[in-house]
Amino acid sequence: MLECRGIRLSDIAMWLLIGPRDDGITLTNVRLVVTFGLVAFFSIEQVSSMSMSFFGQVALVTGGAAGIGRATALAFAEQGLKVVVADVDETGGAACAEAIREAGGEATFVRCDVTRDEEVRAMVEQAVASYGRIDYAFNNAGIEIEQGRLAEGSEAEFDAIMGVNVKGVWLCMKHQLPLMLAQGGGAIVNTASVAGLGAAPKMSIYSASKHAVIGLTKSAAIEYAKKQIRVNAVCPAVIDTDMFRRAYEADPRKAEFAAAMHPVGRVGKAEEIAAAVLYLCSDGAAFTTGHALAVDGGATAI
Ligand SMILES: NC(=O)c1ccc[n+]([C@@H]2O[C@H](COP(=O)([O-])OP(=O)(O)OC[C@H]3O[C@@H](n4cnc5c(N)ncnc54)[C@H](O)[C@@H]3O)[C@@H](O)[C@H]2O)c1
Repeated sequence: MLECRGIRLSDIAMWLLIGPRDDGITLTNVRLVVTFGLVAFFSIEQVSSMSMSFFGQVALVTGGAAGIGRATALAFAEQGLKVVVADVDETGGAACAEAIREAGGEATFVRCDVTRDEEVRAMVEQAVASYGRIDYAFNNAGIEIEQGRLAEGSEAEFDAIMGVNVKGVWLCMKHQLPLMLAQGGGAIVNTASVAGLGAAPKMSIYSASKHAVIGLTKSAAIEYAKKQIRVNAVCPAVIDTDMFRRAYEADPRKAEFAAAMHPVGRVGKAEEIAAAVLYLCSDGAAFTTGHALAVDGGATAI
């Protein structure tokens, strides 16, 4: 018999469903109040159990100064995690950590260029020095700077995009995985893109970089599958962040194409990617590793 804090749920449900019918307005109102109360009670129970599973743990977010990274850092903090915000943008990164502290959470900012081995090593060491461990790493820092077709790209663009999007994710995992192994587990989510699942016209280098992120993710997931470390990727379609706005300013046709590619009829929100990242980190995803999760308004279903 399902019981919650001494209340037999079946008795309440029976009364709500098949209790006396000729009870007039008063009893009907009582039913409404009880139903509303139960919905609120169990919603709170569900939210607090999600918070309980994360509470007091530590998350590291790269690219946390803006956009998807910032939204995810805030979402982790709302669930009671201590958050290490890392970015090359010191102003934005410090502001994100400050916003978390102002809301009553715990956060610290670390300046880190993810393309530099020594800086990534120092970022992980700083996280451990601040909070003792890293339970979840969201390797999200990324850039997109292309303007034209493949033959119009430059060597400098190639090196820059591959440096942040691929080498950056590789370096982050290279320094996070030994720590998670020593801790006895953890979860990593890397930011890929729907451009890592298929073609991305006028973004060919970016597309190649995000395919590489998925390759790194799947390989690491298999290597560490028996070590209580899960590694997944999130693949956003077009999300309303500075990155999208910069692309729109450079080429308005990209924005028109972007809006049209989502069957739901709109671009996504950074908070919608944050929710997917938290799911991939949660115990609810305990059997999910090596997965590239499209969060794309149906774009890749077409
Ligand atoms: N916005 C989209 O439409 C979209 C779609 C798919 C995937 N993505 C991916 O999501 C991630 C976040 O993108 P966003 O839209 O939030 O972009 P954004 O430009 O708003 O934020 C990216 C953050 O990464 C930081 N960063 C850049 N280079 C860095 C480096 N070398 N070291 C550390 N930090 C660095 C920037 O300072 C910035 O704060 C990226 O990996 C991007 O490729 C974005």
